[in-house]
Amino acid sequence: MIKIAPSILSADFINLGRDIDSVSNADIIHFDVMDGLFVPNLSFGLPVLKAVRAYTDMEIDAHLMIERPIRYVEGFCRAGADIVTIHVEADNISEISRAIDIIRARGKKAGLAIKPGTGVGAIAPFLSRLDQVLCMTVEPGFGGQSLRMDVLPKVREVRKMITDYGYDCDVAVDGGVNRITGKLCAEAGANVLVNGTGIFEAKDRGTYIEELRGELSPYFDI
Ligand code: DX5
Ligand code: ZN
Repeated sequence: MIKIAPSILSADFINLGRDIDSVSNADIIHFDVMDGLFVPNLSFGLPVLKAVRAYTDMEIDAHLMIERPIRYVEGFCRAGADIVTIHVEADNISEISRAIDIIRARGKKAGLAIKPGTGVGAIAPFLSRLDQVLCMTVEPGFGGQSLRMDVLPKVREVRKMITDYGYDCDVAVDGGVNRITGKLCAEAGANVLVNGTGIFEAKDRGTYIEELRGELSPYFDI
């Protein structure tokens, strides 16, 4: 099933509640957390997540673009994330593994993100415990960039690996997704489309989301 995940990094923070309402026909609220170290930018964190959790029943994916995420995964679970997605590049194998265990022990979905330059081999040791692999289709840190076409073969490889092992795991793409690039991603095997700029700049966000979902569903027939 195709899932649309609006990234509220592109929302109007003064009117965050109103903007969340405007995308309520989407599937997942994508919540981008940046620490100024793992990526050269800062965004928002736990207090904002608590407020968003109290406001909406939608599924929330906390995409942690932070160094040593093990320090905070418990906090993001407690603050109300349904999915906690950490970066495989953000710590060593054993700490990433422990962080995934903490997320799962809290009854939450575990996601693992990979930057454009990271190969699929990096996620292999964790795959059996993951609910989502998130392929960054831009360098993480900023919204509004163009999707990197060179990541698409990797999306295909990730989907193949999941299918070959028979795992039940979403494949997400994040960065530069629009109605054109979204089709290429879905065709490559992505079923979660994160989209910030495109959705929040649309005149009618609800319609944009429906059209995007409708256009992409035929490409995802696994
Ligand atoms: C980038 C973030 C993305 C970003 C997507 O580091 O992880 O979620 O906000 O936004 P667009 O759709 O504008 O590329
Ligand atoms: Zn993101």
